Amino acid sequence: MEIIRHELQRPSVFIDEAKLSIDYVPPNLPHREEHLRKLTQLFRGVIETPGRVSQKVLIVGDTGSGKTSVTKLFGKLLSEVARNHGFNLVYVHVNARRERTEYMILNKILSAFQPGIPLRGLSTQELLSIILEYIESNNLYLLVTLDELGVFLKRRGEELLYLLSRTVDDKLNAQQRISLIGISRSPLFGYILDPSTWSTLQKNMLRFNRYNSRQLRDILNFRIKEAVLEGAVSSSTIDLIADIAGASGDARYALEVLYKAGKVADEKGVLRILPEYVRSAKAFITPEIRREVLLDLSTHRILLLLAVCRLLKASEDAYITTGELEARYGLVCEEYAQTSRSHTQIWSYIQDLVGLGVLSSKLSSVGQRGNTTLVSLPDIPASVLENELELLLEKRKVGVRT
Ligand SMILES: Nc1ncnc2c1ncn2[C@@H]1O[C@H](COP(=O)(O)OP(=O)(O)O)[C@@H](O)[C@H]1O
Ligand SMILES: [Mg+2]
Repeated sequence: MEIIRHELQRPSVFIDEAKLSIDYVPPNLPHREEHLRKLTQLFRGVIETPGRVSQKVLIVGDTGSGKTSVTKLFGKLLSEVARNHGFNLVYVHVNARRERTEYMILNKILSAFQPGIPLRGLSTQELLSIILEYIESNNLYLLVTLDELGVFLKRRGEELLYLLSRTVDDKLNAQQRISLIGISRSPLFGYILDPSTWSTLQKNMLRFNRYNSRQLRDILNFRIKEAVLEGAVSSSTIDLIADIAGASGDARYALEVLYKAGKVADEKGVLRILPEYVRSAKAFITPEIRREVLLDLSTHRILLLLAVCRLLKASEDAYITTGELEARYGLVCEEYAQTSRSHTQIWSYIQDLVGLGVLSSKLSSVGQRGNTTLVSLPDIPASVLENELELLLEKRKVGVRT
């Protein structure tokens, strides 16, 4: 009791930590006003003549360039504008890395206006029909953002886009009720799509550039005002963070460094975020492996990654073979009381993790260790990542017997 009360009363450099959390969307996005303006132009028809036109837009840009935040803010603002125009536009933001199948995505869309038990045992088609009937009979319009769409389409092909766009071509003179925004890190998935879908998307393509250090400084300044004690971060500390993150142009990385540096300050009981804390925070984060990505991983992908960490932590080799990995994964599953997945599934998990940049892989040179795939971690210490993963599993109560 005493310990807890004492800890809670300890002063902190944060006034509101939640303002730095992953799901928080700030009310202003400096250096992205132009993108909001462009989106508004593209959706002008949807607002002015609801039901007559729908829209499809593609957003591309590197990680941490503000794609997710800008569309979430835009969706919120657009549904407010629609309300003022006297109609009901529902905004749904779906993360297609988290919702890994067409079915899961449709279920997510449905739950936006029909919260409660997810429906089971239906076909994808049936689920789609339920959504269409619902929006038709309630006179709703939908703006759906498919975030991380590139990853999804590469894995599953274009059925999802086909399903969702077909809905509007179905009946002649039917109301156009569904508009789409797709987000992807690269536009390279274009070759998967049929040429007409692809040309529509390309026509309405918005590019988000990486932020430079000066822009990151403005962003940090603005976010610090909301989240951190006044005067706790000097302008030279802000410059340091902006310069560190300037190399990747990734605002999420900048904010994570700020957050972790604040945590270091709290641990030390100092009410200032000093440059030294920034440097030690940086040692614990890499732009490649970000909390956001880890949070979205399924439990078995986390267990597999944990096996990688356990192997690499103690290894003289920088790379491990997939055979070694599979064996170690089996042990980790035992430890967490999970049934290990099949060889083929493990292989597809490895591909996924490589695709997400969480694992790196290469083929071994001939004669070295047979001709096999070798995996490793990008530049994060295995023990640091191991720690994060164990915490995640604990939070999800994996392996806890009740
Ligand atoms: N212009 C901006 N102003 C304030 N915060 C921003 C800005 N751009 C990005 N961020 C913040 O940086 C992080 C990463 O942005 P996000 O939209 O998730 O990038 P992306 O989807 O392109 O990877 C989020 O926490 C977001 O709130
Ligand atoms: Mg994003």
